[in-house]
Amino acid sequence: MSSEKTLVIFVAIFIVMTVLFLYSSNNGIGGTYAPFHVASNHALLTTNLKKWAGKDGYVPVYGNKSMALHCQNCALVTSSSHVLGSRAGEEIDRTECVIRMNDAPTLGYETDVGNRTSLRVVAHSSVFRVVRRPTEFFHRTDTNPVIIFWGPPNKIGKDAKGTLYRLIQRVSMTYSNVSCFSIAPSKMRKFDSLFHRETGRDRQKSHSWLSTGWFTMVIAIEICDNIKVYGMVPPNHCVKKPVSKKTPYHYYKPRGADECVTYLQNESGRRGNHHRFITEKQVFARWAKQYNVTFTHPKW
Ligand SMILES: *[C@@H]1O[C@H](CO)[C@@H](O)[C@H](O)[C@H]1NC(C)=O
Ligand SMILES: *[C@@H]1O[C@H](CO)[C@@H](O)[C@H](O)[C@H]1NC(C)=O
Ligand SMILES: *[C@@H]1O[C@H](CO)[C@@H](O)[C@H](O)[C@H]1NC(C)=O
Ligand SMILES: *[C@@H]1O[C@H](CO)[C@@H](O)[C@H](O)[C@H]1NC(C)=O
Ligand SMILES: *[C@@H]1O[C@H](CO)[C@@H](O)[C@H](O)[C@H]1NC(C)=O
Repeated sequence: MSSEKTLVIFVAIFIVMTVLFLYSSNNGIGGTYAPFHVASNHALLTTNLKKWAGKDGYVPVYGNKSMALHCQNCALVTSSSHVLGSRAGEEIDRTECVIRMNDAPTLGYETDVGNRTSLRVVAHSSVFRVVRRPTEFFHRTDTNPVIIFWGPPNKIGKDAKGTLYRLIQRVSMTYSNVSCFSIAPSKMRKFDSLFHRETGRDRQKSHSWLSTGWFTMVIAIEICDNIKVYGMVPPNHCVKKPVSKKTPYHYYKPRGADECVTYLQNESGRRGNHHRFITEKQVFARWAKQYNVTFTHPKW
């Protein structure tokens, strides 16, 4: 083999290796932060979330109820440990409607998160944790609270005859004060297309899972004129500064996963499905200007 040919082969190998290296590091294999959504200014179609819904999107799990909740002022209490030490409990409880997520407790955390619940948005994956502790989630609430369950139609839809649906049905019968709804399949698809329109990414093709935070924010905008969000960080929070102090992802799991680690790993995850917590917050920041949404603890 001539030395020229050898050189060509070496150069080719070098280029291939370089490309592979760059590809894999961009892919988050090395734990590098790769933003899922490159912030862009291209005009995205805006959806009027106030009219977006249609009440038929929420199917009563038991009985003949309709989702009629409407509030002038809402406190949306996140599950982030940023609420710890806020002493916002009394202010939250003074708000007309208090919105919580999944199995976030109030018992033992009243000073920071308050003790009322008007609406709870629960993921299919949290159903067991919620129905297991009815005194916490079905008694310690407002007199006529609402619970909205979201999930794939084959798990929580009206036609799903699985364990999960039967569980939800049983608790709705037992606690008839609580109005339980599941999100209709047609509305679940709307949540997907909303994500597509707002981020320019197809949820399934981009291997993304919507978070309970996404559902809760959209529902809150739908039913509340003004929203104050407790404990949500701005989209650039974990990127901007190297995070030194550990901030648990959930206020009720002090030894659980770190919030920024969870956000960054999910955001850059490519294999398997991941939550796009940071991308979602970029969208929330846009919505905040359009609808009256304010953020406190931290304030932004
Ligand atoms: C269910 O509610 C609607 C309106 O609230 C009412 O028109 C209808 O008669 C009710 N059906 C039953 C079976 O109670
Ligand atoms: C919680 O509930 C009790 C009884 O309804 C009330 O007195 C108290 O002020 C509430 N708020 C907090 C922050 O504990
Ligand atoms: C259910 O509703 C009734 C009447 O609105 C109320 O008196 C009762 O305390 C409620 N029960 C619970 C567990 O909230
Ligand atoms: C926006 O919401 C905040 C609290 O949620 C409220 O204090 C303020 O008056 C609202 N502004 C408008 C213009 O409605
Ligand atoms: C993504 O977020 C979920 C919480 O919703 C968490 O359980 C999971 O560990 C995160 N994944 C990574 C790779 O950090």
